[in-house]
Amino acid sequence: MTVTTIATQPIAGQKPGTSGLRKKTPVFMGVHYLENFVQSIFDVVGAAGKTFVLGGDGRYFNDRAAQVILRMAAANGAARIIVGQGALLSTPAASHLIRLNKTDGGIIMSASHNPGGPHEDFGVKFNMPNGGPAPEAVTEAMFDRTTRISEYRIVEAQDIDLSRIGRTHLGDMVVDVVDPVSDYATLMESLFDFDAIRAMFARGFRMRMDSMCAVTGPYAVEILERRLGAAPGTCVNATPLPDFGGMHPDPNPTWAKALMDEMFGPAAPDFGAASDGDGDRNMVVGRGIYVSPSDSLAVLAANAHLAKGYKAGLKGVARSMPTSAAADRVADALGIGKYETPTGWKFFGNLLDAGRATICGEESFGTGSDHVREKDGLWAILLWLNILAVRGESVADILKAHWARFGRNYYSRHDFEAIETARADAMMADLRGRLASLPGAQIEGMTIAAADDFAYTDPVDGSVSLKQGVRILFADGSRIVLRLSGTGTEGATLRVYLERYVAGPDGLDRDAQEALAPVIRAAHALAGITRFTGREAPNVVT
Ligand code: G1P
Ligand code: ZN
Repeated sequence: MTVTTIATQPIAGQKPGTSGLRKKTPVFMGVHYLENFVQSIFDVVGAAGKTFVLGGDGRYFNDRAAQVILRMAAANGAARIIVGQGALLSTPAASHLIRLNKTDGGIIMSASHNPGGPHEDFGVKFNMPNGGPAPEAVTEAMFDRTTRISEYRIVEAQDIDLSRIGRTHLGDMVVDVVDPVSDYATLMESLFDFDAIRAMFARGFRMRMDSMCAVTGPYAVEILERRLGAAPGTCVNATPLPDFGGMHPDPNPTWAKALMDEMFGPAAPDFGAASDGDGDRNMVVGRGIYVSPSDSLAVLAANAHLAKGYKAGLKGVARSMPTSAAADRVADALGIGKYETPTGWKFFGNLLDAGRATICGEESFGTGSDHVREKDGLWAILLWLNILAVRGESVADILKAHWARFGRNYYSRHDFEAIETARADAMMADLRGRLASLPGAQIEGMTIAAADDFAYTDPVDGSVSLKQGVRILFADGSRIVLRLSGTGTEGATLRVYLERYVAGPDGLDRDAQEALAPVIRAAHALAGITRFTGREAPNVVT
């Protein structure tokens, strides 16, 4: 085996964001681009003698990038790589394999819910030995490395055949090609009551699972149709394609419109679900009723004990700061811990590792538990199915009963995408500069009670994360949060999170946008969104 050391130069802007390094595919395919970042990963975490998991969501360049990463791992002295067949692994399945095999971490090739293809997005992220995303200190060190890199190592070799399960070698390095689905499916079987779900399907329960031509297709077919007996054809768009069939694999009402139309149409099945590019996000929909991710987290937390993996109860519930407070009300009622973390799954890792939280969620269609260290789309869908099977009620009935008991946190997120970065920064700077003067002010008939820039001190390791988003809290419990996305690849994306609490039993059954109208108007007025960005309305509303 010949190891070649190739001279290279730093490439500007290889800064990993909320979930790894994400760029346009042609950028990633550029000379030395992927290689520089992968070498920087190995330089920071060390490769000699180590075992890593490797897989991705199947998007364009996934297969080529996997071969490069394998050759570089061998050249850097890695002992063993466990790679999903076809270089496929969903993010939660990769997290599970890292933990199950007690490896030194893993490399996941994905740009999550961003479109894929020769002109769309690609990404690479590193997950730690606990199965979770690399913390900021590690990604910062990787970034620092990319700014000083002068060479990378790669072996000269033929491509490894990743289509066949089994063990091969690349020089001294062992390459184990594994079935991407089976270990994950076994884990799901250990957490959920498959017999009860199977019986529900046998009684005629109908479901639609839309994998959006991304990685969860094979997982959904195996688990839902083969192991749980859902009718053949329950899973649609179930073959992962390099361009996701032209779909935007982001499971929300805008991008999973076909599913929404079906669930609100005359022949709607009992339950609908969709997942994103790499399988960590989920959207659930009942017949004629949409479940917001914040409500989904709260319902799952309130009912998790109905599934065998959680029958001992939850240790705590964690949510990202912009996620609605619905889950907090459940935590209070259960008398368990509640945690509010910055945006990004990595902040849940310490709480899960320390046994403080069992279930976590974000408003951005991410829900998960301590079974892995990533959010997990199919996990959430299966927990919903388990709850539906035990309770024997419809999604609508379960949601309405939940709101009647806990009250309803009307909630919506408005995204203003591809804004000129300078304009978005100016708006946030202006707003931050005025925060101290806001408390006491009246707007839209509401009084501002507090305004701050969210700062988080990790209760486990004491690390501090500043400037995590502007919060404006009103005396009536309503809330506005504004922050800029850390995952966009074009200009800046402004996210405006809107929330209003209504206690039952009256006023629980309104349209969310209508119920939130005064809060939306207040957000525009307080931040000057149109004045700064030129935008009057959001591009995506979830
Ligand atoms: C977005 C979501 C965030 C999620 C992240 C990775 O990040 O808002 O909740 O953790 O994607 O999936 P953002 O673009 O807002 O920084
Ligand atoms: Zn994702």
